[in-house]
Amino acid sequence: MFKLAPSILSADFSNLGEEASKIERAGAHMIHIDVMDGHFVPNISFGAAVMKSLCGKTSLPFDVHLMIENPDNYIGDFVTETTEYITVHREACPHIHRTVEHIKSFGVKAGIAINPGTPVSALECILADIDMVLIMSVNPGFGGQEFIPFSLEKISRLNKIKNAGLLNFEIEVDGGIHAGNVREAVDAGAGIIVAGNSIFAGGGAMENVRSFLNKMNA
Ligand code: DX5
Ligand code: ZN
Repeated sequence: MFKLAPSILSADFSNLGEEASKIERAGAHMIHIDVMDGHFVPNISFGAAVMKSLCGKTSLPFDVHLMIENPDNYIGDFVTETTEYITVHREACPHIHRTVEHIKSFGVKAGIAINPGTPVSALECILADIDMVLIMSVNPGFGGQEFIPFSLEKISRLNKIKNAGLLNFEIEVDGGIHAGNVREAVDAGAGIIVAGNSIFAGGGAMENVRSFLNKMNA
């Protein structure tokens, strides 16, 4: 079963509770929480307090994407009853095995994200220990960017490694996904789809979630 995790980065920040409830009612599976520090990526989004303001407003699990330097210092801040995944960037973690163990020590699933320029092979020593790999299909920092086509090759390479090793991490793809390319991402092996702009821009979040789900599960 494929999962859809709309990113609130493109939602109406003045009405986040209602935006979350809309995507929940339309059938989304998680809320993707894009945390940016202005150092690891050239943009600042929001911190744990904004995410926590959604606790109680939705029962959708949080899929936290930390695009920050020194993520080890902040993992605990993002642990709540509804936090399902905390994903850190491979490029931001010199001691990635220790960071993964730290995330899991909170009883939260551990994800590792890799940027478009980072090869799948950078994860080969840690794949057996993690719950999810996030393939960035845009350069991190902003919503509404163009999908980088080589990402499909990375997803299928990773899927082959997963199947050959009988590993059970999820493959998530994040960035530039829309109704016209979501099927390709799923066919390449992505099990979790993140989409921000194509869900929330223009205000038709419920209809957009439904159309994504139809395409993903066609
Ligand atoms: C980018 C974020 C993505 C982004 C997805 O750095 O990690 O989650 O918000 O948004 P779209 O779907 O608009 O590319
Ligand atoms: Zn993201």
